[in-house]
Amino acid sequence: MRIPVPLDKSWRLINHGPVVLVSASHAGQDNVMAAAWCMALDFKPPKLAVVIAEGTHTRTLVDASRQLVIQVPPRALLDAIDGVGNCSGRDVDKWARFGLARERASVVDAPLVSGCNAWLECRVIAGEDAIHARYDLFPCEIVAAWADDAVYDAHHDGARLRDDVPPARRAVHHVAGGVYVVDGEVVRARAG
Ligand SMILES: Cc1cc2nc3c(=O)[nH]c(=O)nc-3n(C[C@H](O)[C@H](O)[C@H](O)COP(=O)(O)O)c2cc1C
Repeated sequence: MRIPVPLDKSWRLINHGPVVLVSASHAGQDNVMAAAWCMALDFKPPKLAVVIAEGTHTRTLVDASRQLVIQVPPRALLDAIDGVGNCSGRDVDKWARFGLARERASVVDAPLVSGCNAWLECRVIAGEDAIHARYDLFPCEIVAAWADDAVYDAHHDGARLRDDVPPARRAVHHVAGGVYVVDGEVVRARAG
């Protein structure tokens, strides 16, 4: 079940550096791409940064809408992750080709990809166009956050990874060229 996560804890959903899916929408067209280069940026207000290369269809949609969703997909979606990262929404309907379903976001006008572990609804921070142009880097403010309680513990605000995440629901990390590493054992330091 998708549960809300307090914004001040939303950074915890991407702190392990997983591959994310970036979804965006403009003028009635939804799209999604893979991104390995995404990181937390600030606590308050919560921010993240993601690289969205010039020339991608997602970049066109984000430039126009100034909104996006970052989601953490599970291993079960590996072929879809790799697929949406290797073709363009300009040429194909990725939702149909990779069997991805979507839901409405709560705050932004961009779709949530169904079946993910976590979702961060974001607005592109205004006034940073020079950074977009120079580094393809999009600093964003996180305006809503969600987690699946099969993966994140509802008793810890949905912001703590569970010990018993099923293998198919573990997050993945991109090495290069279609090679990925899947999250393994969860270990906790004494104070954790
Ligand atoms: C695992 C993976 C990670 C990727 N990471 C990034 C990234 O961080 N930034 C980026 O701009 N493109 C990244 N890409 C490439 C885009 O996903 C790719 O260019 C995609 O086809 C763009 O789709 P679009 O034209 O529909 O927006 C990645 C691709 C893969 C497979």
